[in-house]
Amino acid sequence: MGYEMAARLAKGGCDVAVWNRTKAKADPLARHGARVVNELKDLASRDIVFCMVSTWDDVKEVVGKLLSGSSKPKMVVECSSISLEGSAELRELLKHKGIEYLAAPVSGNAKVIKAGKLTFVVSGPRAAYDKAKPYLDLMGTGSSYVGEGELARIAKICHNVMLGVVIQCLSEITILAQKTGMRRHAFLDFLNKSVMGSMFTRYKTPALVNLDFKVTFTPHLLRKDLDLGLDAGRELEVPMPLASVTRDLLQTMIGHGMTEQDFATLILMQAKASGIDLKPENVEVGDGLSS
Ligand SMILES: NC(=O)c1ccc[n+]([C@@H]2O[C@H](COP(=O)([O-])OP(=O)(O)OC[C@H]3O[C@@H](n4cnc5c(N)ncnc54)[C@H](OP(=O)(O)O)[C@@H]3O)[C@@H](O)[C@H]2O)c1
Repeated sequence: MGYEMAARLAKGGCDVAVWNRTKAKADPLARHGARVVNELKDLASRDIVFCMVSTWDDVKEVVGKLLSGSSKPKMVVECSSISLEGSAELRELLKHKGIEYLAAPVSGNAKVIKAGKLTFVVSGPRAAYDKAKPYLDLMGTGSSYVGEGELARIAKICHNVMLGVVIQCLSEITILAQKTGMRRHAFLDFLNKSVMGSMFTRYKTPALVNLDFKVTFTPHLLRKDLDLGLDAGRELEVPMPLASVTRDLLQTMIGHGMTEQDFATLILMQAKASGIDLKPENVEVGDGLSS
């Protein structure tokens, strides 16, 4: 995610410096004009630092290293999907150091970013948002400002609960359709053209039809987000039956060792549970992203 975000900023003409734990993965960004640095604290004197890692623990670790020298950035825009509590702790930490902070989680995978369709949901001080907005715009189709504090975190958690529930639903109905004798691509073609079709159902169609499960989002990361949603539901006393069932199905998949491919492998579990030996259809289907 971070790679494609940095690539869009660099291609858009921004002065970009990048750090990644595994430097070799970031090195190709140099061909777009980005400077790939060796140490996190080399980013500390930048105006805005965008952070895109995995969990709150990772965010804490990288921000700690970022601020371990004498320089500090003017603003940190944190884009990973993390908890409200983690985000609030980060806000406190940065406030003490006089650094502006925006919570800005995203919607879309790396392919979506490449296609220019990434979106952000942002919270924090309005003035900071106004400063960051041109850069957020460069990385995708825009951002939604939802208010102060950590509100963007809960918006993103809600979004990803829907992601989990929708992929499970898509898996169920596609296998149901197949068991009646329908080809998966034919069924999904209908669904994608219908009022129920979406950018998401379209871009997941190649995976569901041809079983290409190159990872876009890992089962572990999706479980993390469902857990964040369920935790918030418990705290706020909101029942979340669909999220609970989906979380258990995902846990079963992880328990079977299905962890290294895309989360869309939920369809493989669904097929197995339905007595179907799933095969790729080897049909060319669009993902709705490439023009
Ligand atoms: N993929 C999606 O579709 C998607 C969509 C929306 C939001 N998100 C969220 O975006 C975030 C990133 O997702 P992703 O798919 O890009 O994950 P990913 O492919 O697993 O990449 C994680 C990145 O974080 C770095 N990282 C992780 N832990 C670190 C640590 N302790 N210290 C330093 N660097 C660390 C990794 O460095 P290395 O390269 O060295 O491993 C890598 O660059 C997650 O919070 C995810 O939930 C993902």
